[in-house]
Amino acid sequence: YREAVMIAEALRNCRHLLVFSGAGVSAESGIATFRDALSGLWARFDPARLATPEAFLADPELVWGWYEWRRQQVLRAAPNAAHRAIAELASRVPRLTLVTQNVDDLHERAGSQAVIHLHGSLHAPCCFDCAAPYAGLDTELSEPEQGRRLPPPYCGVCGGRVRPGVVWFGEPLPLATLEAAEQAAKQCDLMLVVGTAGAVYPAAGLAHHARAAGARVVVLNPAPSALDEVAHQVLTGTAATLLPQLLDD
Ligand code: APR
Repeated sequence: YREAVMIAEALRNCRHLLVFSGAGVSAESGIATFRDALSGLWARFDPARLATPEAFLADPELVWGWYEWRRQQVLRAAPNAAHRAIAELASRVPRLTLVTQNVDDLHERAGSQAVIHLHGSLHAPCCFDCAAPYAGLDTELSEPEQGRRLPPPYCGVCGGRVRPGVVWFGEPLPLATLEAAEQAAKQCDLMLVVGTAGAVYPAAGLAHHARAAGARVVVLNPAPSALDEVAHQVLTGTAATLLPQLLDD
């Protein structure tokens, strides 16, 4: 707790805060982290068999079914105290940039604006072939809890298969999005790295950029992460416990 107070002080002096979030921020909303999303029914699958373009081409019904299961989890979920605290932080500092690896929309639903989604969104599917956005996704709850194979819809423009609007392993991040995030990392003076294993690049590289450019880097995570060694300070605890403490002063 004393450490959280130290950060509250850093926040008071901060001019540009960068919050970099990962799956752990949504964990307390009941959204499975990437690792947890491969438990239960999906335990026998390797991420490389679900989250790659090759996997989609080889078995579109398997991959689409997995993403629909995850999207339905998000539809059922609500933002938690961590999402709300991050939205509130924006009013406590002159400038806040929020960069997330998450493909859910819980930051937005908690009130955060201009969220930079490095890895895309579960809610913005598009055509695998021509990239046209697809607007026909069902927003009603329709999936069984455990998920199932589902055929992806067809694109209304070219007849191709519709895919999730997320960045898969082996795919480049959208350039403008990555550049905006890297610019914020180089300009910020405080970076909070919340709920990410810090193992996936180039996203995790943001912490290195921020540290190299002179920002204070603080990791918040209940477990050790690959970015602990880049951080000036590591706070051990869950996002929904630690982040609201930063708002008490
Ligand atoms: N509060 C904060 N952190 C938590 C919590 C919690 N309640 N619960 C778990 N965590 C932490 C875990 O300790 C772990 O470090 O969240 C992290 C989740 O790690 P991953 O599932 O690997 O998620 P993330 O780091 O966001 O993954 C990065 O990899 O799979 C790809 O594209 C996908 O965006 C994803 C990227």
